[in-house]
Amino acid sequence: MAQFWKPGSEKPRAVILDDEEGGVLFFSAAPSISGYGYASLERQRQRLPVFKHRTAILYLVESHATTIIVGETGSGKTTQIPQYLKEAGWAEGGRMVACTQPRRLAVQSVATRVAEEMGVKLGEEVGYTIRFEDITTPGVTMIKFLTDGVLLREMMNDPLLTKYRKKRQEQASENCAPSTQPAILSVEGQGFVVEISYLEEPAPDYLQAAVSTVLSIHDQEPMGDILVFLTGQDDIDAAVQLLTENAQKRGKHSSGMLVLPLYSGLSRADQDLVFSPMPKGKRKVVISTNIAETSLTLEGVVYVVDSGFSKQRFYNPITNIENLVVAPISKASAKQRAGRAGRVRPGKCFRLYTEEYFVKEMPAEGIPEMQRSNLVSSVIQLKALGIDNILGFDWLASPSPESMIRALEVLYSLGVLDEDAKLTSPTGFQVAEIPLDPMISKMILSSNELGCSEEIIIIAAILSIQSIWVSGRGSQKELDEARLRFAVAEEIWGGLVTWALLLVCNEVVFKAVEPYFENVWESTIRFVKD
Ligand code: CDP
Ligand code: MG
Repeated sequence: MAQFWKPGSEKPRAVILDDEEGGVLFFSAAPSISGYGYASLERQRQRLPVFKHRTAILYLVESHATTIIVGETGSGKTTQIPQYLKEAGWAEGGRMVACTQPRRLAVQSVATRVAEEMGVKLGEEVGYTIRFEDITTPGVTMIKFLTDGVLLREMMNDPLLTKYRKKRQEQASENCAPSTQPAILSVEGQGFVVEISYLEEPAPDYLQAAVSTVLSIHDQEPMGDILVFLTGQDDIDAAVQLLTENAQKRGKHSSGMLVLPLYSGLSRADQDLVFSPMPKGKRKVVISTNIAETSLTLEGVVYVVDSGFSKQRFYNPITNIENLVVAPISKASAKQRAGRAGRVRPGKCFRLYTEEYFVKEMPAEGIPEMQRSNLVSSVIQLKALGIDNILGFDWLASPSPESMIRALEVLYSLGVLDEDAKLTSPTGFQVAEIPLDPMISKMILSSNELGCSEEIIIIAAILSIQSIWVSGRGSQKELDEARLRFAVAEEIWGGLVTWALLLVCNEVVFKAVEPYFENVWESTIRFVKD
């Protein structure tokens, strides 16, 4: 078992700090949820910090064009405020209340929760829309959860978002026009003290360290669920397997532990399991990506194990390559992760790194996603929304000039933008309308002329998802077998055909793209021919 410094022991100082130096984090106390019982949904709703501000929120929304509500994760912003608005009549007359979330999994999970709280069937009064999945009923759905991306797409057809908004201010009668000044309301945090421990020595392998930390919490600490932050499906599945095997080996003693993965791309059944309460005496261990950091709240978590890493997107505009890499998190993330342990009662956070590393090396803030991403999709969306002057656009975090230039170059080579950087018609508008990477959209459009749409659409589908392999719990064996089926000798030809098709479709794209790809293409062709 890895060694942790416990607050109260000699080293490190168990300082009580509310800044970024670690030690013990304090949150303002809130009425305790007794034991591990799950209160009725209505009682749970009333206990959330936003509930006290219900009237104020409704007043501000009525009297201001924009209202900003600030509150800690789990205070009820996402699940409660849309319900308050609906109760106050904002979803009447055929309008809807829209609530966006950054991730698909978060959309599905909160929509399910709100439907449950309102006692309605998901897809009726409460629904959701994510890319390629629309669980709403026109004329019936009043609260709709959706990803930011889907809302942006809706804006292309309906720039004023008339489905959701009251009359715009200029159309409203003068004397009851809401103030144009935004209103800001801060909702106090809900949470308890979280004790933080660090590793004495850096861990050579964070996966092993996480597994042994979970086992020792399970052995030594009182009941309460454990939330472990790892980075992605691979290391999460590995940790789940190691812990499950260990529990089986130790027999009875560890049977009180249920280990569950949490990442986007999980089946609905597995998602539901993560959010469902445990039977008395059983401890839930959720091994998650950073999705549980801000977008999702797990009730009942008392212990957090923080690997100090997350998977982050990094785009290099020089090489035009976007990578998902395991990178160290920031102090802000570490603090947010720790806070997940103090939701139902005082909790503990085990950081799988040293205090010295935290204080001296961990960056204070992460790099904004806008500065780590390929801008091709953002630029085409802005253009499609009629925002032509993207160089003068008021970004929250300005992207680098290199990324911007590279995005314009790629879009120009695809024939999506013309020499004046205006969207071309029809290609530019068509590409903008397809909710895929613009390279893939162009590939699909070009396949029509080349008479290979069927094959290209299959390839586009495969290229547009994270993994083509989905497995339910306990079906690892079937998954391996399914994979193996693609490995038998005669299937290798099938594989080669797919690969060749991939090259052909890339040719469609590359042909349209700048000559700088040409060398690469030539050598690939030569390689294939040889
Ligand atoms: O948006 P915000 O982070 O402020 O909180 P929320 O997502 O509205 O969650 C409020 C509360 O609802 C959480 O603290 C959980 O107790 C509960 N919740 C849940 O039990 N299951 C979900 N799938 C979502 C929320
Ligand atoms: Mg939220």
